[in-house]
Amino acid sequence: MTIERPGFETKAIHAGQEPDPVTGAVVPPISLATTFAQAGVGEHRGFEYARTGNPTRRALEVCLAALEGAAHGFAFASGMAAEDAVLRALVPGDHVVIPTDAYGGTYRLLSKVFEPAGITWTAADLTDMDALEAAWRDETRVVWVESPTNPALTVVDIAAVARIAHAHGGRVVVDNTFATPYLQQPLALGADVVVHSSTKYLSGHSDVIGGFVATNDGELATQLGFVQNAVGAVPSPFDCYLVLRGVKTLAVRMDRHCQNARAVVAMLAEHAAAAKVLYPGLPMHPGHGVARKQMRDFGGMVSFVCAGGEAAALAVVEETRLFTLAESLGAVESLIEHPAQMTHLSAADSPLAVDPGLVRCSVGIESVDDLVDDLRRALDTVLVREPESTGWRGTLQRRRKARDRR
Ligand SMILES: Cc1ncc(COP(=O)(O)O)c(C=O)c1O
Repeated sequence: MTIERPGFETKAIHAGQEPDPVTGAVVPPISLATTFAQAGVGEHRGFEYARTGNPTRRALEVCLAALEGAAHGFAFASGMAAEDAVLRALVPGDHVVIPTDAYGGTYRLLSKVFEPAGITWTAADLTDMDALEAAWRDETRVVWVESPTNPALTVVDIAAVARIAHAHGGRVVVDNTFATPYLQQPLALGADVVVHSSTKYLSGHSDVIGGFVATNDGELATQLGFVQNAVGAVPSPFDCYLVLRGVKTLAVRMDRHCQNARAVVAMLAEHAAAAKVLYPGLPMHPGHGVARKQMRDFGGMVSFVCAGGEAAALAVVEETRLFTLAESLGAVESLIEHPAQMTHLSAADSPLAVDPGLVRCSVGIESVDDLVDDLRRALDTVLVREPESTGWRGTLQRRRKARDRR
C-alpha cells in the first residue's frame, strides 16, 4: 500500500492485499498449494511448505497486524490455538494472573492444560490495582487481560495494568476479541501481546473459526512463529480468506453494532425484568470512565442480570425469536445465551463462575426496532403480571406446564 499513514478503514481493506502480480486480481487468490517450488535447495520465493507459511495467511497476518499497530502477526486455527501459542512461552514454575471474569475457555486452558504442566495461576480483580499487586509473585510472567470481559463486560484499565506488570518485569496479554482493533488498540496502551478469536467480530459472519496474535516484541514473535509451525494449529487458506473478507467491513459493522447495542441497552435499563444492565457505555457502569479513555465506542455486547434469577434468564433466552439462542458472538446476526450453563460452564465452581441470572446478548446489525421489540417481548414474558401470582417462579412454572401440555 503506497498511502502514507493510512486510516483504519483503508488498512482493513488494503493492508497485505496488493493486486495479484500475475493476474491483477484485486482480491488475494486463495492459495491452496501445500508446497512451493524451489529453484535450488533453500532457494524459494518466501514460501516453502504451507504449514510454515501460505500467501493467503500471510495477507491476513499483515492486515490484522496493521490494524493492531503491530510489527508481527500470527494467524491460528482458533482463538484457543492463539491463546495456547502465547502461553507456550511459559515454562514450569511460571505464574499467570488472570481476571476473575474472563472467557471460560481461557480458564479451562490454564487450569486443565497448563496447570498440570506446572504453570500456576491466580485469579484477581483487574479493575483493582491493589489486587493485582497482591496477586503478583516473583514467578509471575504474564497478566492476562480481557477488556471488556466475557461475559460481565468489565472494563480493565490496560495502561494501568501495563505500568504495574512492566515495573515487575512481566508481560501483559490482552484478549481484544470483544473490542476489536477498531474500538481499542491494546499495544498502543502499553500491552505486549494482543490475542483474538477471529471467529467473532473480525470475520463477523458466523462462518469461520480462527485466532490471531499480534506483538511488537521481536523475541516473542520468533517464539510464536516457531510454535505456529511446530505445533501446526494453522488456519486453512479458505478460512484466512473469509477473515480477510470480513475485516474489510469491520469498521462499518462495529459502528452499527454499537448503535444497535445502545438502543437495546436503553430498553433494558427501563425494563423491570432486568435487575442490572452491564454495558460500558452506561454512565453508571464502574468502567465507563476507563472505557471512554481507551475505547472509541462501547461495543456490541450487552449483558444483564434477570430480576428473576436463573429461571428467568433461562426463560428469556428461550423466548427470543430474532436473537438466536446460541454460543458465540460478534456476527451480523444477533445471538443470546446463558453463560453459566453455556459458554462459561467450564468455569462453574471456580473463581470465574458466572451469576446464573446473567444473560449475554451479542447485538447484531438487523433492524434495530426488531431487535428491541424481540428482547422486550421475551422479557415481558418473565414479568409477574397477576397480583395473586406466587412470583416469577410461579409464572414460569405455569407457562412451562402450559407449554408441556401443547
Ligand atoms: C473472549 C474470547 N476469547 C477467546 C475465545 C476462544 O475463541 P475460539 O472459539 O475461536 O477458539 C472466545 C470464544 O468465545 C472468546 O469469547
